[in-house]
Amino acid sequence: MPTTVLIGAQWGDEGKGKVTDHLSESADVVVRYQGGNNAGHTIIVDGERFALTLIPSGVLYPQVTPVIGNGCVIDPSVLVAEMAELDSRGIDPTRLRISANAHVIMPYHRKLDAVMERFLGQQQIGTTKRGIGPAYMDKFSRHGIRVQDLFDPKILRQKLEIALKDKNRVLTKVYNSLPMDLEPIIEEYLGYAESLKDYVADTSLLLWEAQQAGKNIIFEGAQGTLLDIDHGTYPFVTSSNPTAGGATTGSGIGPNTIDRIVGVAKAYITRVGTGPFPTELHDETGAQMVELGGEFGTVTGRRRRCGWLDLVALRYAVRVNGLTELAMTKLDILSHFETLRVGVAYDSLGERFDNFPRQQRILYNCHPVYEELPGWNTDISEVRSFDGLPKEAKEYIAYVEQAIGIPVRMIGVGPSRDATVMRKS
Ligand code: GDP
Ligand code: IMO
Ligand code: MG
Repeated sequence: MPTTVLIGAQWGDEGKGKVTDHLSESADVVVRYQGGNNAGHTIIVDGERFALTLIPSGVLYPQVTPVIGNGCVIDPSVLVAEMAELDSRGIDPTRLRISANAHVIMPYHRKLDAVMERFLGQQQIGTTKRGIGPAYMDKFSRHGIRVQDLFDPKILRQKLEIALKDKNRVLTKVYNSLPMDLEPIIEEYLGYAESLKDYVADTSLLLWEAQQAGKNIIFEGAQGTLLDIDHGTYPFVTSSNPTAGGATTGSGIGPNTIDRIVGVAKAYITRVGTGPFPTELHDETGAQMVELGGEFGTVTGRRRRCGWLDLVALRYAVRVNGLTELAMTKLDILSHFETLRVGVAYDSLGERFDNFPRQQRILYNCHPVYEELPGWNTDISEVRSFDGLPKEAKEYIAYVEQAIGIPVRMIGVGPSRDATVMRKS
């Protein structure tokens, strides 16, 4: 089986965890390549719910080697807790392999994330406050602590002394906050080193060897295309590259080894945090989507903003990721609406846009142009074959395929692992 990359095609929370888990049945390796514990991936198996933040969703299958690649930022306190949680639920976490080059989220990153947001006031991004942005800032300014640094106490102390001097100046002088002490941090992180030492590996080599041996590899994106630092709705984005290119830089594989790029999109669209959202619904329909879809964040519990499917944004995701197919999740939620709408273009500042606008000013003033499609008003949660779907549901899917130019190969009709309709190619 090929190397597959799985990408969020919207603003995150598309159901990547469920789709990754579904595909993992025949996978050997499942890799996270960017982000950290800002992600929250939900999987429901036989009524049991798993909410993974750092460990790849494939971990639930015993034959899978889960890998955290170099492009991720790791909060070891969260990782150690997540491993213990899995262990307590009968899932062996010791198969995990962690890149020695991944960056480490430190306590001052979490603190900076919180105070930076507070200082932005009305302009805040609405981050998950997990320290993600500040950790990537340090990576790119070359002041970061990497996983491998945790295993050399002398180097760790040296690097932390420099980093903390700088952070404490910023915390006290810019953000009027209290400074942090070096010794407790060193002690805490040396403890994590002890807990994680057996799992650290050259994960790029591991992936190369797996590819050479013809193994099945899935790359599980976190966040989504519109949250990408380069291609998303900047500055209301995360600090990494969830888009397909990120899978190669974030793991150390070559782009020519990727065979299949699956976009995951809800049958409608949601967003947590601030930033532009052309098809957002502020009315009763939007509130119904929140309620029916259980649209509350897996990580922060925040209410997700909801709207009709945005085909302009989805076409954009097809383009910037090179998507070869789509997995459409939560089609069951649309069963409750008489008439469905899909955004097919934007009107902004007196112009029509068929392509996703690059300028923030245009994006902020967008009013979607909608097409209406009939709903099906029938419960589809027990349907397991494409032919078993109501005519209007098939037409909805056909409409989307026509608009975006790629096939919809998987359809989600419920949150549990088996509530999936697979279509043959
Ligand atoms: P992720 O971050 O992309 O993995 O998505 P989340 O797990 O944060 O959010 C998706 C939510 O939708 C979770 O609560 C899933 O259990 C749920 N979900 C996924 N697919 C489906 C589906 O096809 N139908 C329904 N009703 N729920 C789904
Ligand atoms: P998964 O993988 C949805 C959003 C935050 C905020 C912005 C920046 O579950 O789809 P950050 O903490 O990353 O600096 O926050 O990105 N965000 C997500 N939204 N799903 C996620 O992950 C997200 N991870 C970050 O709400 O708007
Ligand atoms: Mg999520």
